[in-house]
Amino acid sequence: MMFPTHDGPTENSPFHATIITVFPDMFPGPLGLSTTGRALGSVWSLDTVDLKNFVTGPFGRVDDSPFGGGAGMVLRPDVVGQALETGGGFQGRPCYYLSPRGQRFTQAHAVSLAKGSGVVLLCGRYEGLDQRVLDHYTITEISMGDYVLSGGEIAAMAMLDACLRLLPGVMGNQDSGTEESFSTPLLEYPHYTRPAEWKGMDVPKVLRSGHHAAIKAWRKEQAERITRDRRPDLWEIYTSGMPPDCFVKDE
Ligand code: ADE
Repeated sequence: MMFPTHDGPTENSPFHATIITVFPDMFPGPLGLSTTGRALGSVWSLDTVDLKNFVTGPFGRVDDSPFGGGAGMVLRPDVVGQALETGGGFQGRPCYYLSPRGQRFTQAHAVSLAKGSGVVLLCGRYEGLDQRVLDHYTITEISMGDYVLSGGEIAAMAMLDACLRLLPGVMGNQDSGTEESFSTPLLEYPHYTRPAEWKGMDVPKVLRSGHHAAIKAWRKEQAERITRDRRPDLWEIYTSGMPPDCFVKDE
């Protein structure tokens, strides 16, 4: 394997992700690059469990046709169960099944998971997973949004990335997590950098004024305008003054 594997979280690598999938070669994928890639093997570690290794018999399969008929195939409970039980165990880490039917993943989940010792992520393919696996083990179904992906792997990467960037030592600037979109119900204000004039467009004057209070007020105003225009659902939460569970609360 091209990336460090571990038995679980250790002192050197306190956050450990286990990915159970039929496509282990997809990992670490983009998580092996940039900030998360640099921290792989130190701040966090990863191992994959290949569902194909748990197929029994010479003609065995990871999936089978659904009882009751219908399109698509369903991941077999004996194969997934064996993978869950042999794959090193959860070691106290929460296990999630990536599925469009799950509870919506939010920044609050990422913040809470980043405080723990890692996650076990079960990736579905085909039509889904035999319900008995979900009923038997303590697995939470979680969704990346109201759209359907061809499998859970890309969703697992997105979920993991949202957690990993919050781990101390992954991102350079530790402040960056608190002001951005979804730390509060407001979306982010617009950003500008050099050159000050580009394609005939200037940077808003206030940002070059050096007047910190005015800059702060302008940014707040812009964040409010963008949120009101694009996300009436968030605007309502913001104006009600009640931060719901999906936002990071100040501690
Ligand atoms: N698998 C397929 N679609 C998904 C989604 N929207 N979120 C999480 N896992 C998925």
